[in-house]
Amino acid sequence: MSSERVGYQTQANEYGLESDFSDFDEILFRRFSPEDGDERQMGELVYNNAFLGEPFDVICRCKRWFSDVVLKPYIKFQPENIHVAVHKDSGRLIGYLTGSTGGEEFEKLQYQMVRNQVISLAASLTMPWTLFDQSSRLFAAHVIFKGERERPTHPRSGVHWHFQVDKDFRGRGIGSELLRRFVDDAIDAEFPLIWAEVTAYPKKPSEYFEDRGWTIYDAKPTEIFRDHVDFPVETLCITKPLKSFETTTH
Ligand SMILES: CC(C)(COP(=O)(O)OP(=O)(O)OC[C@H]1O[C@@H](n2cnc3c(N)ncnc32)[C@H](O)[C@@H]1OP(=O)(O)O)[C@@H](O)C(=O)NCCC(=O)NCCS
Repeated sequence: MSSERVGYQTQANEYGLESDFSDFDEILFRRFSPEDGDERQMGELVYNNAFLGEPFDVICRCKRWFSDVVLKPYIKFQPENIHVAVHKDSGRLIGYLTGSTGGEEFEKLQYQMVRNQVISLAASLTMPWTLFDQSSRLFAAHVIFKGERERPTHPRSGVHWHFQVDKDFRGRGIGSELLRRFVDDAIDAEFPLIWAEVTAYPKKPSEYFEDRGWTIYDAKPTEIFRDHVDFPVETLCITKPLKSFETTTH
């Protein structure tokens, strides 16, 4: 592909994915490393963020189970598409992106892994109440009975990603930089499209994503947070052609 990404930042600004590189001296961006405790720290981070950017403990106390469901398929089958941001002074992992270039094949493997984990959770539901708190039981039941129905459809082609940044470090361009790294790889591999599942709610409605150049491919209301918020929440699948991230030279 005769194109270059030097125009990324200009293009990115247009879509609201601006990167503030001035802060990046204190942040190390690198790929996932199984030896550096990344998996454990990614688990902490996703658990701390998963309730609309806040800790997920009010919804489900099973931290390890939840983190495994979200992360394990990527760690096992797509480790080369995981990018992390580490705060240099503390060595703390403060952001990550899990991407997949594996298409439907990866999704089948992911589905099987998640299904097995849900079954193991369902089995533990038969244990005495004391071993499993009420909110986790409700969450497990929700995943089992409504999980698939509440997922928006997504394109068959292209790559997808999911990212999280620690609350104290948000809004400084770290998420955008993680995405830029994954997008660069996807462009090099000549994929046409990128998509993601994101959550829309009054603070971040679907227009928020449309204003930043994303197309809403599908949307499904979710009741996962129903007992904890007094506004509607939707899961959106958003898409964007990868060529919109690059500047072609011909
Ligand atoms: C979303 C998140 C990862 C972005 O990381 P960040 O370092 O704060 O982001 P940046 O400073 O690079 O810039 C924010 C930009 O990311 C983009 N953005 C924010 N949320 C996004 C999302 N869910 N999907 C795609 N782009 C998003 C926007 O363009 C935003 O620009 P803005 O300044 O106009 O709002 C981070 O804020 C976060 O972890 N939030 C809570 C959990 C969450 O929503 N995770 C996303 C699930 S996919």
